[in-house]
Amino acid sequence: MQNIVRQLEEKRAAAELGGGQQRIDTQHKKGKLTARERIELLLDPGTFEEWDMFVEHRCTDFGMDKQSIPGDGVVTGYGTVNGRVVFVFSQDFTVFGGSLSEAHAEKICKIMDHAIKVGAPVIGINDSGGARIQEGVASLGGYADVFQKNVLASGVVPQISLIMGPCAGGAVYSPAMTDFIFMVKDTSYMFVTGPDVVKTVTHEEVTHEELGGAITHSTTSGVADRAFENDVEALAMLRRFINYLPANNRVPPPHRPTPDPVDREEPSLDTLVPESPTKPYDIKELILKIVDDTDFFEIQPEHAKNIIVGMARMDGYPVGIVANQPLVLAGCLDIKSSIKAARFVRFCDAFNIPILTFVDVPGFLPGTAQEYGGIIKHGAKLLYAYAEATVPKITLITRKAYGGAYDVMASKHLRGDVNIAWPSAEIAVMGPKGAVEIIFRKELDDPQRIEELTEEYRAKFANPFIAGRRGFIDDIIEPRQTRKRICRSLAMLRDKKLENPWRKHGNIPL
Ligand code: HXC
Repeated sequence: MQNIVRQLEEKRAAAELGGGQQRIDTQHKKGKLTARERIELLLDPGTFEEWDMFVEHRCTDFGMDKQSIPGDGVVTGYGTVNGRVVFVFSQDFTVFGGSLSEAHAEKICKIMDHAIKVGAPVIGINDSGGARIQEGVASLGGYADVFQKNVLASGVVPQISLIMGPCAGGAVYSPAMTDFIFMVKDTSYMFVTGPDVVKTVTHEEVTHEELGGAITHSTTSGVADRAFENDVEALAMLRRFINYLPANNRVPPPHRPTPDPVDREEPSLDTLVPESPTKPYDIKELILKIVDDTDFFEIQPEHAKNIIVGMARMDGYPVGIVANQPLVLAGCLDIKSSIKAARFVRFCDAFNIPILTFVDVPGFLPGTAQEYGGIIKHGAKLLYAYAEATVPKITLITRKAYGGAYDVMASKHLRGDVNIAWPSAEIAVMGPKGAVEIIFRKELDDPQRIEELTEEYRAKFANPFIAGRRGFIDDIIEPRQTRKRICRSLAMLRDKKLENPWRKHGNIPL
């Protein structure tokens, strides 16, 4: 018995040391924490229950039978974040470069199965050289097994990926199928083919960081949802983020009491929208002034900045916010912003998170780049996502709601539950100038007349009353009362029940 206990202690010590002190030091020198240090920071102190510490690989080729480290390059188990259970896997770069063997994959799949069974989020910390080269196809099979679990877990439990080192080749597709990807600047990268292959095939010279670093993916490609300065910041922000999410798709997101009064008025909102319809303003000001405690967790803040998406709370209840940003491209919808918002709307809908939409949109962005890039299909994604969503949907039109974009942005016609407008709202097929130039084309050479007609059109349509007359908006509210009105609507909608017709799955335009 004593012998077994000693063996146990030895094996534990070996697993905890991973690839050894020298490799741990190298990891630290790169500015990275180890797999276990990351778990320590992610979870509430002392709550980590590790599984499969004694799992070892089964490979005998290339001298692998003489090299085995308990745990096989990934630390797995569960613990709590602010008291709520989460499952976690953390790849250990000090053990065979965190590469994925058959056994390593089995460990990940095991915790994912449990997460689905008990209904708890999965957090994956990626730091890996990819497929365990010595294992060949067994490793590829392991990846595919993880991909399959990612898909089965999608929409059932939240899945969040932290990229904290290399993540290349087919390995990128596991994080890609999770709900959110957070990266760390300078030490993490994701790409399907690395700089060397790129150089051979396209003759482009590009660094790891330029090709697939955190800045690239959080700005240009939109693959990553946030980029953080270092491991510590990324883990702390993930702890904050997970507080907004429900444990699974069958429970509501967690309520957190707030000292912020529901009926707090914000007089400054009365003057947020400028007199001139072409003058921009920052829609983030509206968001920060109405949500609980000015606390807003933005997703993809540096990508497709003409639309803002993120999590906040109203009266303590989590909400997903989608808002056109007049400061960027006048708030137009384009390919990137449609995709960004559509994915976010679908996440909220899958996980019972009500959606607040703030509308100031002059339409879809014109141009060959947009049309050739498929704005028809990509814009349809957002339309589809809003139309499909059955969670409470509250829409506030602050200024422009023109054309097809009016319909798309959670309008009444797409089963918006509460659609309200500020007095500054203009709901029309298009802006007054464009409208007059089309309707009165023959009078275009009389600028005076065009001016008069534009004013006439503006007076007639550039207001919220016509839509109000038809019931397309439920009320026109004083901006200062926005928080109170939205909180009341959310309370009224708390037990909303709405189901779509049965189908295997819809066919969103991908
Ligand atoms: C086995 C690996 C490994 C791998 C790294 N190591 N990657 N062992 N399989 N895929 C080992 C190294 O041998 C080394 O072992 C240790 O991990 C650290 O690696 P270094 O190269 O010293 O580290 P670094 O200089 O930081 O470079 C990291 C790296 C590089 C850029 C990730 O190791 C690398 O290029 N690895 C190979 C990447 C790759 O081609 N993977 C397969 C991709 S295809 P020692 O004992 O010296 O410490 C793929 C397909 C997935 O992943 C398909 C899914 C569908």
